[in-house]
Amino acid sequence: MCGIVGFVGEQGDALPFIYAGLKRLEYRGYDSAGIALASDGQIALKKTRGKLEALGQLIGGMPAGVPCGIGHTRWATHGRPTDENAHPHTDCTGTIATVHNGIIENFQELRQWLVERGHHFSSDTDTEVIPHLLEEYGGQEDVVQAVQKAERRLKGAYAFLAISAREPNRIVAVRRSSPLVIGLGEDANYVASDFSAFLAQTRRAMVLENGEMAVVTPDAVHVMDMAGAVQRRQEFTIDWDIRQAERGGYPHFMLKEIMEQPDVWGDCLLGRTSGGAVVVEELGITREQLTAIRRIQVVAAGTAYHAGLVGKALIERLARVPVDVAVASEFRYQQPVFEPGTLVMAISQSGETADTLACINLARQEGMKTYAIVNTVGSTLARESDAVAFTHAGPEIAVASTKAYTTQILVLTLLALALAEAQGRARPDLVQGLLNLPLLGQDILSRLDGIQTMAERLSGQSDVFYIGRGLDYALAMEGQLKIKEIAYIHAEAYAAGELKHGTLALIEDGTPVVAIVTERDVAEKSISNILEVKARGAEVWAVVDEKLQKELPVDHVIPIPVLEPLLSPVLAALPLQMLAYWTAVHRGQDVDQPRNLAKSVTVE
Ligand code: M6R
Repeated sequence: MCGIVGFVGEQGDALPFIYAGLKRLEYRGYDSAGIALASDGQIALKKTRGKLEALGQLIGGMPAGVPCGIGHTRWATHGRPTDENAHPHTDCTGTIATVHNGIIENFQELRQWLVERGHHFSSDTDTEVIPHLLEEYGGQEDVVQAVQKAERRLKGAYAFLAISAREPNRIVAVRRSSPLVIGLGEDANYVASDFSAFLAQTRRAMVLENGEMAVVTPDAVHVMDMAGAVQRRQEFTIDWDIRQAERGGYPHFMLKEIMEQPDVWGDCLLGRTSGGAVVVEELGITREQLTAIRRIQVVAAGTAYHAGLVGKALIERLARVPVDVAVASEFRYQQPVFEPGTLVMAISQSGETADTLACINLARQEGMKTYAIVNTVGSTLARESDAVAFTHAGPEIAVASTKAYTTQILVLTLLALALAEAQGRARPDLVQGLLNLPLLGQDILSRLDGIQTMAERLSGQSDVFYIGRGLDYALAMEGQLKIKEIAYIHAEAYAAGELKHGTLALIEDGTPVVAIVTERDVAEKSISNILEVKARGAEVWAVVDEKLQKELPVDHVIPIPVLEPLLSPVLAALPLQMLAYWTAVHRGQDVDQPRNLAKSVTVE
C-alpha cells in the first residue's frame, strides 16, 4: 500500500531523508515513486514508475540542501502504474504538491467541476483533484486554509500531505482513516505512513487521529480538527529496535521473520502466564468480561482469517463458547445479525486492513463489544476497538505473513484458556506446553534442511494440494495461501475427508500433496486419506506428529514433536512456511514483495 514521507527542517536536507524513508516503507508494496521539494518559490519534482532505484537515478539533478519536501511510493488503485500517475501531484501552477494514500471516492465529480473551472489534469489518479482543489481555494496564499476548505469537499478514506513553494517551512498533513504518524526531531520534524520511515532519526512520535490535520514546521507540530480547533496530543517513545526492521543478515525479510519466531513467541508469552495460569489482564480484557461472553464473531482477512479458524477450534474445544469466523470483506456487507453477548473479535497484523476495520466499526455502531488481536501498536484497529491484545511480533516486513500468524495463534490459545477458566470449564494444563514452544520451535528450525529437496521438486509443479483434518485442515489453508502468494503455484487446501467428494478426481501420477497429521484423535482417518491419494499416484509429503512417522506410507516426512496436539499448529506452521519460502527462492520470485500484493491493504 502507498507509503508517505515528509520532512521539514531548520536547514536540513530533505532529499536524502525522504529517499531513505521511502526505502524503509518499501515493504508496503508499490509500483511507482516520487519526491517533491519546496525550493526557491518552486516545486522541484521527480517521479517515475518502477522501484526506488529508478527514482534514485532521477533525483541526482534535484536541488541539494532544501529543508522541506514530501515523497511517496504508490500502489496503483486509480490509473495504471505510469510516470504520470506516480505521486507527488501538483496544481496548474506547479507550486503546490501533494502525496496521498487511500481513495477519494468522489474524485470523478470533483475532477469534472475543476475542469469546468479551467484546471488542467495530467494524470488519471483520484489524487490529482487535491492539489487543484488547493489551488482553487487559495493554496498559493495560505495552504492551511485551503486544505481545510478542500477537505470538506473530499469523500473517502485517505491521508495526504501538502506543501507549497511559497511556504517552504511547513507541511500540512491530513488524516481521514488512512494512517499518518509524526516524528519529532531536534531541528526537524517528520511525517510518514508508519514509524519505520523515521526510526533512524527519532524515537519520539505522535499519532494523527482520524479526522485531524497537523501543521508541521521544523520546531513545532500543531494538531487540529478539520475546523481548526486545536487538539492536545501526547508524544510517546517508540521502543522498536531499528535493527528489528532490517534483515539481520538474511537474504530476505521472510526468512528472517520465519527464523525469529521462537524468540518472538517468547516475547508474545512474556508476562502473560503465572503459576500455570493465564494472566487475563495481559490480554487486554477482564475475567468479568470473559464470563459474560456467549458467542464470538471473528472478522479478519487472509492469514489472519486462517489464524481465526485455528482460534475457533481452540476456543470451542477448551471453553465451549461458539465461534464464527468470517472473511471481513464478506461480513461487512452481509447485514450480520449480532446477538447480545457476542464479542466481535478482529485479528490483524497491520491493524489497518480496511475491511477488518469496517467490520469493527459496524459492530460498534450496533452496540457490540469489540476486541482486537493486533501486532501494530498505535494502529487504527488498536485504537478503535474496545479492548486490545497485542501479539508483540515486532515489525513484519515481508508481505507473506509468518510470525504474525503464529503469534496470533498464541494469543488465541491464551484467550481460549482464560475463557475456559472464566466460563467454569475444566482448564487443561497447557501453559507449560506454551512455554516450551520456543525451544521446540528452535529445534524444528534447525532440522529443516531436507525441505530444500521438496522445495526444489515443488518448484517445477503447477498444482499442489494441502490436506488435513480439524486443526490440521485450518493449517492446510494457511500452507496453501503461502505457496500461492510467494511461489505463484496453484494450491488448494482440502479437509482430508472431503477429497472423495470431488477433488480426488484431480489426483494423478506425481501430483504433489502436502498432508498434515498432528490431530491424534483423527490421525487414523487422515492416514486413510493419505492412502487414498497415494493409491492414485500422488507424491505425498507429510508434516506429522513424530510418533506417527513410521506408520506413514509417504514420500517425505517432516516430523514434529507433538507434546500437546492443541499447540501443534504453531510448530507445524514452520515447515509449511519454509516450504513456501524455498520454493519461491527456487523459482526466482521476489519473495518479500510478491507481485500484485501489498503488505497492508488499506483500501477495500
Ligand atoms: O494486516 P492484516 O493481518 O489485517 O492483513 C490481512 C491480510 O491481508 C494478510 O494476512 C495477507 O493475507 C498476508 N499477506 C498473507 O501472507
